[in-house]
Amino acid sequence: MRPITTVLSGVALAAAMMVQGSATSAQDLYLNDGMIVDYRQQIMKTMDAQVTAIGQILTKTVPNENIVSHFEVLLATTIQAKTAFKHKALGGDSLPIIWDEWEHFSGILDDAEKEIQTTIARIKDVGPDAAWDASLSALACKSCHDTYRVKK
Ligand code: HEC
Repeated sequence: MRPITTVLSGVALAAAMMVQGSATSAQDLYLNDGMIVDYRQQIMKTMDAQVTAIGQILTKTVPNENIVSHFEVLLATTIQAKTAFKHKALGGDSLPIIWDEWEHFSGILDDAEKEIQTTIARIKDVGPDAAWDASLSALACKSCHDTYRVKK
């Protein structure tokens, strides 16, 4: 197996060589719609995994020692989602109105971000049971999917 640094420098080199022959910037090389769709789906899957883990903790299926870090990962991925969706890449299960109503769409993520921050502070203050206060509807998964994702 090649060490990751070799792979990365190979990728950077290939990008640099392609840029040299055209006016395209290195960043543009990655702004391929299919890749962006895949990327934002990876972020959503990470959010989903955190919500599942938090549910396991709240139902006392597993020990609660990671509760704060699951909310911290959820917070990081919520912020990542906003950046990932900023690029108008049509496809996947995203409805095009996301980019017509960008202020509203990104506002849902802003609100979720604040909600998660409050929850983290409360858990640190009061203990893991405070996580119950964060109703998952406040995290807006379902309401956003109902409005902006293709209905299954
Ligand atoms: C602001 C809107 C919004 C919020 C909030 C949101 N999602 Fe999503 N989610 C989407 C959209 C849009 C898609 C479709 C992405 C695509 O295929 O282009 C999606 C897709 C998904 C997918 C499918 C990913 C795949 O593999 O195709 C999962 C799982 C998911 N979301 C989980 C969650 C969870 C869990 C939460 C809450 C913690 C959440 N989402 C919050 C908009 C949102």
